[in-house]
Amino acid sequence: MTILRIRKYGDLILKKRCEMVRDEFNNIKRLIDDMFETMYANLGIGLAANQVGVLKRVIVTDVGTEGARKPIYLINPEIIEMDGEEILEEGCLSLPEIKGEVKRKKRVFVRGLDTEGKVVKIDTIGILARAIQHEIDHLDGILFIDRMDKNQKKALSLRLNKLRKATKRELRSLSEGK
Ligand code: CO
Repeated sequence: MTILRIRKYGDLILKKRCEMVRDEFNNIKRLIDDMFETMYANLGIGLAANQVGVLKRVIVTDVGTEGARKPIYLINPEIIEMDGEEILEEGCLSLPEIKGEVKRKKRVFVRGLDTEGKVVKIDTIGILARAIQHEIDHLDGILFIDRMDKNQKKALSLRLNKLRKATKRELRSLSEGK
């Protein structure tokens, strides 16, 4: 397994819509292993494929603890039902040290595929429901800061600009190093 480089705010891949996985399930298995490894190494509770540079509809989450992990992944996840509303603070591995309150649905009923191509259904509430919504947003190019209210986002604008510039610098030096 490999720890992949996490794409940070300012990297345009985070704004892109990921494509459905059709038949490359063997490659996807390895991608999922690497995404879990990357998520755990960075102490995250969720990760979407475009955050590691792959434009495929794949998410991983783990809202468990180190002693009792609860790894969950979904290929081509799709929310079928959602209800309730809750405002809670969120963060994101692509936006280190940035936190903000986001209104999301309390419950989601989501459907996706496993690595055998079989249908998986998850009906959940609380932190897992939130993580799934956050990660599916990533697949559509949406970040949690895009769902924050305007004033909250404005209050973060200096830090966001700084982060975006740092990412652009990092991307430039990576491409020069090639
Ligand atoms: Co995120």
